[in-house]
Amino acid sequence: MTYILGIESSCDDTSAAVIQNTRVLSNIIANQKVHSTYGGVVPELASRAHQQNIIPVVDVALKEAKITKKQLSAVAFTRGPGLLGSLLVGTSFAKSFAMALDVPIIEVDHLKAHILAHFIDDESNSNNPIFPFICLTVSGGHTQIVRVTSPSDMEIIGATIDDAAGETFDKAAKIMGLPYPGGPEIDRLANEGTPGAFNFPKPRISDLNYSFSGLKTSILYFLRDKLKEDDYFIENNKADLSAAIQSTIIEILMDKLKKAAIQTGINQIAIAGGVSANSGLREAIVKAGIENGWKTFIPPFKFTTDNAAMIAIAGYFKYLNNDFASQNLTPYARSKF
Ligand code: KG4
Ligand code: ZN
Repeated sequence: MTYILGIESSCDDTSAAVIQNTRVLSNIIANQKVHSTYGGVVPELASRAHQQNIIPVVDVALKEAKITKKQLSAVAFTRGPGLLGSLLVGTSFAKSFAMALDVPIIEVDHLKAHILAHFIDDESNSNNPIFPFICLTVSGGHTQIVRVTSPSDMEIIGATIDDAAGETFDKAAKIMGLPYPGGPEIDRLANEGTPGAFNFPKPRISDLNYSFSGLKTSILYFLRDKLKEDDYFIENNKADLSAAIQSTIIEILMDKLKKAAIQTGINQIAIAGGVSANSGLREAIVKAGIENGWKTFIPPFKFTTDNAAMIAIAGYFKYLNNDFASQNLTPYARSKF
């Protein structure tokens, strides 16, 4: 039996999880409330909070898994991409903990882990994609279409040339004065609004790539002009604005995903990352699946946003290949995918 401890500290969630082979035994996440006052993640505060959280979070993860640290086969951790100060906390902890236990360490790429979250075995996640499949990874910092041939063989076939989809949700929400993170807020409000109430332009970008910076600017200018006429414009149109913004982002995402399915001839389609928690996107994938004859894979909510269970499962696949990391490695901030 293989037990892997996963550690995730790339942004503002400190998380530790234990898996037994592919089965998740615990997945503990400490959210950092401190950033909401600032309307975004403050890197210095994030690394300090990781330092405070990491030991208790690991302790609870082991207790909930009902194993002792001596039973661990390896320690997997997020090496990047993310905030360097935050990554350093998880990386240093993983190295020293594994050294003390005399077990190997496994470095994990955060974005690949979001995709491999589909293989976490628990009662809410029993429908695994079959290789090869296409995954739309949509998070706060990244938007990618990935061809997944195996856990260790993934190729980015489309990506954003500027902002990420999650960033666009968060920035639009910030302009509207909604709390951080804005994605879930827009999702909630959009359910009460009419998507066609306002129209925002969609980018014309070649290939399977995305662009969201134009949409962000057009939302900003549109609201600036409307506020000149009516101080309460946002307040009075929150739901319709949210519905229009959300549906535009989803249309942009789906358009290229459909193209990717046609170009590759692959009809196993998955979504992953924080934005895959979005109810509108989840519905759109199911609908497109029915219309296009896709088999679709939508992760359970708890495995969409950042969590250590996805790091542990990605670590498990590497463990099977004896793919261990050196104690000398350092984290990376930018994607090395
Ligand atoms: O994957 P994730 O937890 O962290 C990164 O790796 O970036 O993704 C966080 C992003 C944030 O931008 C957040 O607003 C967005 O996911 N998000 C959502 C929803 N839940 C989280 N966006 C839209 N609708 C949601 N329900
Ligand atoms: Zn993430």
